[in-house]
Amino acid sequence: MDKKTIIVTGGAGFIGSNFVYHMLGKYPNYRIVCVDCLTYAGNLSTLKKALENPNFRFAKIDIRDAEAIDKLFAEEHPDIVVNFAAESHVDRSIRDPKIFLETNIMGPEVLMEACKKYNVSRYHQVSTDEVYGDLPLDRPDLFFTETTNLHASSPYSASKASADLVTLAYHRTYGLPVTISRCSNNYGPYHFPEKLIPLMIINALHDKPLPVYGDGLNVRDWLYVEDHCKAIDLIIHNGKVGEVYNVGGHNEMANIDIVKLILKELGKPESLITFVEDRKGHDRRYAIDPTKIHNELGWLPETKFADGIVKTIKWYLENEDWWQEIISGDYQNYYEKMYGDK
Ligand code: NAD
Ligand code: TYD
Repeated sequence: MDKKTIIVTGGAGFIGSNFVYHMLGKYPNYRIVCVDCLTYAGNLSTLKKALENPNFRFAKIDIRDAEAIDKLFAEEHPDIVVNFAAESHVDRSIRDPKIFLETNIMGPEVLMEACKKYNVSRYHQVSTDEVYGDLPLDRPDLFFTETTNLHASSPYSASKASADLVTLAYHRTYGLPVTISRCSNNYGPYHFPEKLIPLMIINALHDKPLPVYGDGLNVRDWLYVEDHCKAIDLIIHNGKVGEVYNVGGHNEMANIDIVKLILKELGKPESLITFVEDRKGHDRRYAIDPTKIHNELGWLPETKFADGIVKTIKWYLENEDWWQEIISGDYQNYYEKMYGDK
């Protein structure tokens, strides 16, 4: 079997860590090097099992640090770089956009410069469906395709859209072999507690109010994180250079229905639901058309939402140590700041 070295940035975060485990499990001949500077969202305890694997290396590096990235590339000579590292929470981007532009746009630039210098055979940029903006609720026939115009709404999605453009520019201008995936909302193990699904599970477990923004009718297209990891695995091995692939499972749900489902699964009352002030510029609906990745690479989501949400709730019940450590620290200050006046 082929030997490869893959640099996975942001591998101590939610999707990146799931990807690290997917790759270590599937490719025993690959070396996986995780680059992460461990922001509030990165957690080394997430990678505890990976750190026991001799094919795995963790490097605490900020992707904006060109010198440290160059040194790592000189040591590792990676075949493939998959960039998950980003500031990822829309609400934080509304409060403090600057770090989003710095990490999410300048980070990829530093990584692609190193890819260019060390002749890396693939740079994969992990992007999001949020770069397309939103769709109206009364047009269920509309979906995002890869040719939909970029129309980002939040500083977060604008920074991701910018990174996509820079990535495509590196392909066109320098011939860098890039691919981009634009995925819908993920859920599953190791999801940071500030995001909708884990936040609602943890609040419900503590009988705390469940803060639903606006009317709760905003729609997201949910995909189990393992299905996203499998899509990226396919794209980096078989995807066409210079191409964008949408990833999503035709699994649209209104926020309020997810919250009710979580309460039902946990046997908690709907009286915990509290409608709070809406998010500024709140996108109404996301919906991905995944025809291209299905037709070209044979990808299809495998986990149905009904099963995935039960698995996810079970994971949070069985891994309380993981999230207790997070919510007992600095996260408390964040929660007060975000929800204290709502
Ligand atoms: P996350 O916030 O859970 O993890 C991000 C990781 O990146 C953390 O480990 C953090 O420490 C690290 N990081 C941040 N800044 C860094 C820097 N300057 N240098 C090195 N490491 C840094 O995010 P996530 O939800 O796992 O998202 C991963 C990627 O997938 C992001 O690029 C995001 O835009 C994209 N994405 C996320 C979703 C979703 O539903 N969560 C959907 C589609 C796309
Ligand atoms: P989130 O998990 O932040 O993902 P994104 O904004 O990237 O889609 O939010 C998902 C949806 O849930 C979004 O419509 C905002 C909503 N939401 C709430 O209603 N309450 C909350 O406390 C949070 C964090 C999100």
